[in-house]
Amino acid sequence: MSASRGGFSSRFGFIMAAAGSAVGLGNIWGFPTQTASNGGAAFVLVYLVLAFCLAYPAFMAELLIGRYGQANAVTSMQKMSRNLWQKRFAFIVGFSGIICASLILSFYGILAGWMMSYAIEPITSVLGYNQASSWLTSQSITRNLLFTALFMMLTISIIRRGVENGIEKWSKRLMPMLIGLLILLIIYVFTLDGSREGFAAYLNPDISRVFEPDLLINALGSAFFSLSLGTSVMVIYGSYISKKENLVTLGAQVTLIDVSIAFLAGLLIIPSMYVAQAQGVAIFGDDGSLISGPNLVFEVLPTLFNGMGAVGFFVGFCFFVLMSIAALTSSISMLEGPVSFVVERHNIERKKATTFIGFGIFIISTLIVLNFDLLFGFVISLSTVYGQPLIAMLCCVFVGWIWQRSDILAEIKQGNDEVEYGLFWKIWPWYTKFVCPSAIAIVFFHSL
Ligand code: PHE
Repeated sequence: MSASRGGFSSRFGFIMAAAGSAVGLGNIWGFPTQTASNGGAAFVLVYLVLAFCLAYPAFMAELLIGRYGQANAVTSMQKMSRNLWQKRFAFIVGFSGIICASLILSFYGILAGWMMSYAIEPITSVLGYNQASSWLTSQSITRNLLFTALFMMLTISIIRRGVENGIEKWSKRLMPMLIGLLILLIIYVFTLDGSREGFAAYLNPDISRVFEPDLLINALGSAFFSLSLGTSVMVIYGSYISKKENLVTLGAQVTLIDVSIAFLAGLLIIPSMYVAQAQGVAIFGDDGSLISGPNLVFEVLPTLFNGMGAVGFFVGFCFFVLMSIAALTSSISMLEGPVSFVVERHNIERKKATTFIGFGIFIISTLIVLNFDLLFGFVISLSTVYGQPLIAMLCCVFVGWIWQRSDILAEIKQGNDEVEYGLFWKIWPWYTKFVCPSAIAIVFFHSL
């Protein structure tokens, strides 16, 4: 870790930052929503298997690239290259990841802005400002732009402070808060009528659905989005880890936290829906499936909170604060990708680069808000359905086919002397070389 570029000061700091990037709207909103629309527990089961069997190995590949290169995604991959075409390939893969992270941030900032406006609404309601409340919870260009700008300003202010004082410090504060809030909310929902039925729907898989192609594809996509793969983010976070750390266990710990929080979020949201049903809210669509998508978070849950009386304001506030925190620890990682590239490759001072890039991404968000129907879904598909799997696959190809096996071993051995005798080294290299790229390619071509 070079003194000039900074790095995580502790193992706990890295785990909180990487888990902070991984745990986001994808876990707390996306995963339960996908579970609701893909047959409940069967989806949960497939997601868990794919997260550990495919996303974790790909995640390790990205962390290793970064720790080896000790630099931004492009430079790190170029350090592994041995000839001109490999260097060009490295540039394309690394740079595409950076663009992908920027595009994700441009729509993620809008979603996070909605979460923030819904977090403020219980306060205006309690104070009796009904007009403000209805403005905060209805779609409008002004609300969307204002809250996206607010969220981007928070993201920029953390990244301007650098790795240790920005990313690490804030992840260490926000992540424990997030986990605590999540557990409190689950305990509360557990005490309400109807929640048992929800737990059953969430935890008893219908095994016959496990091999449905759509279910498999959605589960893999969610796992990749959730571990922030294919966006240069884990490469740059990997580059801030000390060479003394055992990367294999660190990666496994982060994956475990990410998957557990997605699981916990499902444990909160699916039973909440059944509680809402017990209170008379319709939770099944016309086709008999559970309501999912934006309606779930912005209609079903707020109706549930309203039905709880005075305590509902507080629960609603906590829920949307939780969402906003989860979004913030992810958005800072997205901004770090392009910022580290510009700082290291073009020698621009960090604070300037952060403000400049953050503002540029906000301009893209503004274009999306102004042309919502045309651009919102398009940018999401471009970056998450096509971009992420393709770039993650190319990272695996890079590690499996271009990086020398002896160099990979030398890198993993740092901080983990015994690695070559363990199970990880027996499986992971060929897995990353053959299984990961082919499995990702199958998903990718299917989504085309
Ligand atoms: N992993 C984050 C989530 O689950 C999203 C994310 C994607 C973060 C890509 C960084 C890069 O919400």
